[in-house]
Amino acid sequence: MKTNKLIFGTLIAFLLFKVARTQPAAPLSARSSGVTPAPARAASPVITVRADRPTADIQPTMWGVFFEDINMGADGGIYAELVKNRSFEFSKPMMGWTVLGKPATEGDFLVVNRRQENTANPRFLRVTLHNNATGSIGLSNEGFRSMGIKEGVQYDFSVQVHQPSGNNTLHIELVNPKGEIIGKASLPVAATGDGWKKQAVSFTATATELKAKMNIWFEGDGVMDLDMISLFPGDTWKKRPGGMRADMIQLLADMKPGFIRFPGGCIVEGPELFQRYQWKKTIGPIEERQLIVNRWNFEFAHRPAPDYFQTFGLGFFEYFQLAEDIGAEPLPILNCGMACQFNSGEVVPLEDLEPYVQDALDLVEFANGAPDTKWGKVRADMGHPDPFHLKMMGIGNENWGPQYIARLKIFTKAIKDKYPDIKLVNSSGTDPNGARFDYLNGQLRQMNADIIDEHYYRKPEWFFENARRYDNYPRNGSKIFGGEYAAQSDHTVSVDNMNCWITALSEAAFMTGLERNADVVSMASYAPLFAHADGWQWTPDLIWVNNLQSYGTPDYYVQKLYSLNKGTRVVPITLNNEVLAGQDSLYAAACIDETTHDLIIKLVNASGKEQTNTVALEGVKKGVGQGQLTVLQSDDLYSVNSFSQPRHIAPKESTIAIKGNKISLSVAPYSFSVLRIRYK
Ligand code: AHR
Repeated sequence: MKTNKLIFGTLIAFLLFKVARTQPAAPLSARSSGVTPAPARAASPVITVRADRPTADIQPTMWGVFFEDINMGADGGIYAELVKNRSFEFSKPMMGWTVLGKPATEGDFLVVNRRQENTANPRFLRVTLHNNATGSIGLSNEGFRSMGIKEGVQYDFSVQVHQPSGNNTLHIELVNPKGEIIGKASLPVAATGDGWKKQAVSFTATATELKAKMNIWFEGDGVMDLDMISLFPGDTWKKRPGGMRADMIQLLADMKPGFIRFPGGCIVEGPELFQRYQWKKTIGPIEERQLIVNRWNFEFAHRPAPDYFQTFGLGFFEYFQLAEDIGAEPLPILNCGMACQFNSGEVVPLEDLEPYVQDALDLVEFANGAPDTKWGKVRADMGHPDPFHLKMMGIGNENWGPQYIARLKIFTKAIKDKYPDIKLVNSSGTDPNGARFDYLNGQLRQMNADIIDEHYYRKPEWFFENARRYDNYPRNGSKIFGGEYAAQSDHTVSVDNMNCWITALSEAAFMTGLERNADVVSMASYAPLFAHADGWQWTPDLIWVNNLQSYGTPDYYVQKLYSLNKGTRVVPITLNNEVLAGQDSLYAAACIDETTHDLIIKLVNASGKEQTNTVALEGVKKGVGQGQLTVLQSDDLYSVNSFSQPRHIAPKESTIAIKGNKISLSVAPYSFSVLRIRYK
């Protein structure tokens, strides 16, 4: 009965998602994707760029990243833990584990629950050994869709043990699918008395294997209790023990993102309020961080992930540290007292909102407070006495309706009273238009909201058509955060969506409009960020990984090119005195970087033929000689990157000669070009 209710609930949630977000599917072709062939022209018209007429400031935060634990983004993703269900807290306590050998009695492995004394980490595994020789009984862990193991890398095994008496030994081995051992170690365990003690051993893998698993064989006699059974690679990001997957973080660092939004996304809200993300439960010793189910475990009946939980080994301290590592402003998003409106939609009564508001106030102290404040001390004790310099936070994810505005007003007053300099990001709902959006947009502007978060999951043609979306937005008042966007080659939540060239090209065209309107748009981020090839729920995604490899999609390279060529001030780029946004299927933006003295021109050719234009450079010193051209291009709008061809579509660099103050610029069919020219 309970199961039926769950399946029904999931189905309804999925349908609601679809009804709310689906756009009519159309076959993808150059024409239906908003890409039109350029008409023949008599003479090449002149595009004019005014490097000497800077207008809006471009915020350092302009291009950032959106992180959510979806698609195995955190557990099984950037959090490098290899053992799944390390503390036996999944709903099925032995999920991910298999008993090896032949236990002597049914009671040789017992899951014990001590909830009374340990609410955060109630379960452990009791192993009873009967004069056991090596190899007669053991446990195997399958990892997150297996374990990726690398030859020559050190692996750090650890376990919390409670063993009142006796001396036993754990024999740990990594095995490939043929059962061959590719790394092993033995861990003698002395009696721990009454308490729990962490025991650890490290060893080096002898082979590379995508689909490995870990076996633990027991040798000895008597009872031993085990918890937090863990295996980490030693080559984590910055070599931090228990840290993050270096290849995945490197892809983020390479983008030099202006901000990182975390931890989502819908997981902030939770399907019900008790399953909302609570940052205070994600800090401190990892064995005290209380696991909850991940809402993407059951959200999509067509992509079930029954083993998807949030262990919070990766929590708010680690997110702040990550932001600092990659030079991005941290942007935490907090629950506003409402559960996901695609799920239960339950709200906390206004009179009971105080603890939620207090969480927001305490977060500022955790991030910025001196080590002698309550929450600043918690941060300092975790190893970071210096502040994290939090400047902004989001209240609510995709929340809507008067119930959201009522709660937001209470949050806003309390936060602004205490921390007037903290900028608040507010939700404008799930869609960039429609009744919900209009209501929220009106309310938020009346409230003089700092930053309004707009989301657009739309087909590529929407992105081409909306390159001028912000040209007519109010120039004063609330700023815009394009907080979640991605072109959908099929339709939102379709499993057939691809990260193909047409999606990336349409985003590049749309982003010219974001840059041109940098006085209105202060931040933007593609979503979602990561997807595991064997564990995803949502596509498209910026970066795809398996347990050994990671690669950027064409959309990733568009984001990266914008971010690495951000500039500091917008400058006009026009065709016949008009902004260039679709004429002859060309889209353009330009800016200057006042620190490097570069003029940066971004030009999208969405037509299927090469176009040659004269670009008149005004305000550029004479005799610059050459410019640096970076081009992303494919003749095939549906081509993709992959594990075997990770750079099939990737930037190619060249120099172009510049004579006088005019360039004859040829742009390839279906291309995105970035040209940098020293202007003084
Ligand atoms: O990015 C995937 C999901 O899309 C996010 O969790 C949510 O905010 C949006 O609906």
